Amino acid sequence: MARKTGRQHLRVGVVGVGRGRSFTRAAGVTGMELVAICDTWEERLLAEGEALKVQTFVDYDEFLGCDMDAVVLANYFHEHAPFAIKALNAGMHVMSETAACHTLGEGVALARAVENSGRTYMFAENYPYMVFNQEMKRLYQKGRVGEFRYGEGEYVHPDPPEVKLGRSCGRDHWRNWIPATYYCTHSIAPVMYITDTRPTRVNGFVIPFDFSDPAQTLHMRRSDTAAVIICRMDNNAVMKSLHGGLRGHGNYVRIHGNKGVMENCRHGDKQRLRVWYEPWEKREGDPVETVYKPDFPVHHDRATRTGHGGGDYFTTWHFAEAIRKGEQPYLDVYRGLDMSIAGIQAWRSALSDSAAMEVPDFRDESVRRRYEDDDWSPDPARKKEGQPPSSILGNIEPSHEAKSLAKKVWASKGYTGE
Ligand SMILES: NC(=O)c1ccc[n+]([C@@H]2O[C@H](COP(=O)([O-])OP(=O)(O)OC[C@H]3O[C@@H](n4cnc5c(N)ncnc54)[C@H](O)[C@@H]3O)[C@@H](O)[C@H]2O)c1
Repeated sequence: MARKTGRQHLRVGVVGVGRGRSFTRAAGVTGMELVAICDTWEERLLAEGEALKVQTFVDYDEFLGCDMDAVVLANYFHEHAPFAIKALNAGMHVMSETAACHTLGEGVALARAVENSGRTYMFAENYPYMVFNQEMKRLYQKGRVGEFRYGEGEYVHPDPPEVKLGRSCGRDHWRNWIPATYYCTHSIAPVMYITDTRPTRVNGFVIPFDFSDPAQTLHMRRSDTAAVIICRMDNNAVMKSLHGGLRGHGNYVRIHGNKGVMENCRHGDKQRLRVWYEPWEKREGDPVETVYKPDFPVHHDRATRTGHGGGDYFTTWHFAEAIRKGEQPYLDVYRGLDMSIAGIQAWRSALSDSAAMEVPDFRDESVRRRYEDDDWSPDPARKKEGQPPSSILGNIEPSHEAKSLAKKVWASKGYTGE
């Protein structure tokens, strides 16, 4: 079925009424009209549909039958690729939440589906669009720190067990079993975006499940505390990605070039940027160190009113712009796959004593052919021989206390399942 393209007024539908709510809010400001939402959690779906005055669908196939140009996928983390492929095949443009794919085989199928559909696919990584990351990209492109040599991206997000349980209703909710390396795009994407590089090899390390931390033992999660991924980039630079539930909530990005360094500040206002040079080689007139709070390059007012430090505005805006121009956005399917696959391959690495693993480039069909049948996954719903565990320590069973706290928290969210 061919969809209308080229119309300025874009009709969009959103799948998932959790994270999906940030898109339902951003749609209007970016010139898109929200026409339908879809979620299998009927109670929440109907409440949201009533509030937004849009059509509601429990069934994804029926939702795809709507007169829409584009679909935003904010369904489960590990189910985006098959949903994206269905939407592309139905003639829709797709913006997909993280991760782009859950297995390498799915990644191959997704790359092929985007190419065959001719539709726009955007990977909804919002962290690159935080104000300090956009400013670092601008400075990098002007050559202000020279060539990229080493980088760091950190996404550290601890929460009390009740808060985490509230976000992961059900024993087999993805947040309860996804290995620590997988949720890596918030930390890898900013470095890729600023420096325009991609990881080619990864070494994965995990900080194991901590049996002396009540934030973990009172939660139903059966994977590890956090992960470090060392990426070798395609220009031979090295980057370190750190993400997970360690103490010390924050997002930090640091770029070492061969002429200078830049990073967002780690104390005070963390939106500020710090740029510094060695005194013996700095340009005349440049201070050794500059700390300032940048503006967004465009739409500063609108962006500062949306979530994730403006990131949520820019993903939706770039998606709408790409559709209107008939292009693929910067965060296209290949970059989305690069950063998602880094987390899968890092888990393979962590389970092999951190040996280096390739991050295959799915721009190349001859590479894709080698991985098209790769369905390696720790998903409990895909159980089969040779399945990897969720934790480096093997199979962890949640404590009795965690189970009874979970029951209470899940009931308070209206969830009655196991
Ligand atoms: N970029 C960010 O800053 C950010 C922040 C939070 C979440 N996320 C991503 O957004 C996605 C959703 O996360 P979340 O926090 O909303 O939690 P979640 O994964 O629990 O929510 C997913 C929603 O999709 C619905 N759903 C699941 N299967 C469905 C199906 N077959 N058809 C229709 N609806 C279905 C669920 O009922 C639920 O309401 C994840 O991929 C997550 O990684 C991104």
